[in-house]
Amino acid sequence: MGKIIAVANQKGGVGKTTTAVNLAASLAATKRKILLIDLDPQGNATMASGINKYEVPATCYELLIEEKSVEEVAQKETTGLYDLIAANTDVTAAEIKLMEVYSREHRLRMALEPVKDHYDFIIIDCPPSLNMLTVNAMTAADSVLVPMQCEYYALEGLTALMDTISKLTSVVNDKLHIEGILRTMYDPRNRLANDVSEQLKRHFGDKVYRSVIPRNVRLAEAPSFGSPVMYYDKSSTGAKAYLALAGEVLRKNSTVKNNSTKAPNSEQVAS
Ligand SMILES: Nc1ncnc2c1ncn2[C@@H]1O[C@H](COP(=O)(O)OP(=O)(O)OP(=O)(O)O)[C@@H](O)[C@H]1O
Ligand SMILES: [Mg+2]
Repeated sequence: MGKIIAVANQKGGVGKTTTAVNLAASLAATKRKILLIDLDPQGNATMASGINKYEVPATCYELLIEEKSVEEVAQKETTGLYDLIAANTDVTAAEIKLMEVYSREHRLRMALEPVKDHYDFIIIDCPPSLNMLTVNAMTAADSVLVPMQCEYYALEGLTALMDTISKLTSVVNDKLHIEGILRTMYDPRNRLANDVSEQLKRHFGDKVYRSVIPRNVRLAEAPSFGSPVMYYDKSSTGAKAYLALAGEVLRKNSTVKNNSTKAPNSEQVAS
């Protein structure tokens, strides 16, 4: 059975999309079969996967509102070697229309049910809010991966997210849990970042990934080339950090069905 991971944090610009895209690509590089779902009308994960959001024939809109199948709407030719369900501004209309439809929280879960077994991991890039799209992601997901920047208000935001997750757990998805908390854009020379990081570890223990994503300009540049960072600059610290994260995700999920038992390393990427 594949595992569905929602990458979520209602705070904007914390590295959700960068994480969803580069984790998906790093996992796909280990021969796992991956589906990335762009659930954000900004369509950033779509563009970063080498798919033009303005020309894409179908998006999450068709999946959620027109009840088309994953097979019908997924793009297979992405630069990250994963399948992608795209997003663009049509997905804003989906969010509004979801309010009117039957079983609105469960649309994504129902759409993924038939294909869950076809993939090792399904990764969902959530928008920066706790709207009906994010609720759909969390209803469909087994777990939530939370990227966060170690800043002063970060812990406050995290508390709000944890409250939402526990509410959803009791109402629509009792198996939902935290997959892990990922420190992004990390600068070890920054004292505040270190303090917040220590507090995080005290509160969340081994839920905090040991892999840390440093601030790295290659990570910021790669999307404008329509590519995950590992195919843009495989020797960059950003590429290595996301490969390490993928290794950690695989180790934590060693019971998840897969086609290869090896954790990723930079040699595999280089080939
Ligand atoms: N580790 C990093 N180092 C340098 N730049 C980064 C890093 N991670 C993300 N960025 C850049 O920071 C910006 C925000 O990142 P990203 O789009 O991944 O965040 P997000 O949480 O998905 O944002 P939104 O909430 O708008 O969806 C982007 O320009 C991205 O390229
Ligand atoms: Mg994003």
